[in-house]
Amino acid sequence: MPDLIPTPPAPMAPDYATYTEPAFRAEFVADMTRVSPLQRQHPSGLCVLDYDPTEFDFRALVGDALAAQGLLDREALRQRGDRLELLHELVDPVHQAHDASQQSGAARVLYEMPAAFTALYERLLGDVVLPQLGLGPAHAQRTPTFRVFFPNAPGYPGHTSYHSDLMLGHNPREVNVFVPLVACDRTRALQFAELPESLALLADYDYDFARFGRDTQLDPTLIARCQRICQPLRLEVGQIAVFDSRCVHAGPANRTGQTRVTFDARVLPAQDLRGQQNRYHGRGRRRADFAVGAYFGAEPLGAPSTACR
Ligand SMILES: [Fe+2]
Repeated sequence: MPDLIPTPPAPMAPDYATYTEPAFRAEFVADMTRVSPLQRQHPSGLCVLDYDPTEFDFRALVGDALAAQGLLDREALRQRGDRLELLHELVDPVHQAHDASQQSGAARVLYEMPAAFTALYERLLGDVVLPQLGLGPAHAQRTPTFRVFFPNAPGYPGHTSYHSDLMLGHNPREVNVFVPLVACDRTRALQFAELPESLALLADYDYDFARFGRDTQLDPTLIARCQRICQPLRLEVGQIAVFDSRCVHAGPANRTGQTRVTFDARVLPAQDLRGQQNRYHGRGRRRADFAVGAYFGAEPLGAPSTACR
């Protein structure tokens, strides 16, 4: 029995997924242990793509959205070259603290972006990401999730929250798309474990995500293992990380002195949905329906082409 690490007062523990119904669990375990289409091309479970950030100027749209909600002086950000890593200089500290879901007030403002952003996001997936991935057309998360981690922001809940999105009820056949809008490094980066180490770890927990989630806050052995296998995913603006949804990762407390701004989304390759019986639901209050036509768009985006590097 390992020693317990004293934990700062944490918010209510998330209701992590644990599957016990025999038929559901059988398909889930098969999906956890198979070689996924992405893994076949990228055994690490990770693929990094390039795009032109001047053609896809998400930074300007974020600046516009924050200014429209009164969170910053648009001109002051423009004078800083729309460098979102300097947001902490412009946003009131009251909007910098994390809430229980590890979101800052600034990120919550970005939950609903204007149509111009949605169009640009869908074009990025359809014209840049999916054609390079070579997994065929895919259904994309309708509304991507922004994360804004201010440096030394108060309210980061407990220890670093290592997880796989599957713990939150996501489908193991999903593929994650992570788009940084600032240069990501050290604790301003996603801490990321490659697929073989991630799968070994989750299998050791027998896919009991409730126990895994609890132990990430309490068990020094697990915390040390996560720290060992997770490394900062270093990315520049203009790069996109695409990774297998079974990979373990975490957004750590930002100790870098600059703001981290990213958005992420999930895609479901249409070909890979064939034969899947399980329906997946979020673990939050709203129990989001992670199905095509609900959380994911009804019409797939993208077309097959060459593989990425
Ligand atoms: Fe995640």
